[in-house]
Amino acid sequence: MDMSPLYERAEHAARTIRARWAAETPRVGMVLGSGLGAFADQLTEAVAIPFDEVPGFARSTVEGHAGRLVLGMCDGVPLAVMQGRFHFYEGYGLDEVTFPMRTLGALGVKAVVITNAAGGLNNTFTQGTLMLISDHLNLMGANPLSGANDERFGPRFPDLTEVYDREFQELASKEAQAMGIELRRGVYAALTGPSYETPAEIRMLRSLGADAVGMSTVPEAIVARHMSLKVLGLSCITNMAAGVLDRPIDHAEVLETGESVRETFTELLQRVIPLLSGQRSEVRGQ
Ligand code: HPA
Repeated sequence: MDMSPLYERAEHAARTIRARWAAETPRVGMVLGSGLGAFADQLTEAVAIPFDEVPGFARSTVEGHAGRLVLGMCDGVPLAVMQGRFHFYEGYGLDEVTFPMRTLGALGVKAVVITNAAGGLNNTFTQGTLMLISDHLNLMGANPLSGANDERFGPRFPDLTEVYDREFQELASKEAQAMGIELRRGVYAALTGPSYETPAEIRMLRSLGADAVGMSTVPEAIVARHMSLKVLGLSCITNMAAGVLDRPIDHAEVLETGESVRETFTELLQRVIPLLSGQRSEVRGQ
């Protein structure tokens, strides 16, 4: 195992990636959640690197996650896209879960889009609702920044007043409006999983102010902010949370819903990406 400091390991991973895709410096990073990986297939001039070929990366074990890093262009913007991710419930430490985000930072991205499949708590959501994450609740019982702090990444006590960039939220909202689709806003609560929640837990989460619940995103968002990267968070409500409807939740349904919003989700990302990279500042017409 490589025992060098995290910063050097992330730099090493970034060098390996650059050797495979030297065309451009990625400007935007992205993490695609369960059932939402299709966006990466649209990139042009793309190179896909399986996770296990990037030094320091663990291996994804979940169905619905391709487990590769795709580098490519989206409408003239160089991107580095995680098609799949590592989860705490797979048994990885939060340092392993967030190592890809450290690597995206080392690659030079300034903005990241973090997506996930989530259960809906807000009664006005339905299966397939897309939600902009406005804030989060870290209920994983752990923080990815615990342990020695490396000031080269960021400060010991990073401010989390605005994890999910307000300007990015506005840009995404305007694009959704131009597309004529509904994009809701809400608070994402992260639990460790892998079991889904009980109805009592869902009632608790609702009373805490959560609109959606999932098992990812928050560690990555914290690490991104630690490195001063701007974050856009997007949830696809793949199912209503436990006890909301009178039926059990299963992973196949989560994947199916992700698949059913594929086109809308992909178009939204395609429209938003150039805006995040600062290439364009206007909302494009229909
Ligand atoms: N709970 C937690 N995580 C999830 C859910 C859920 O209902 N749906 C998709 N990811």
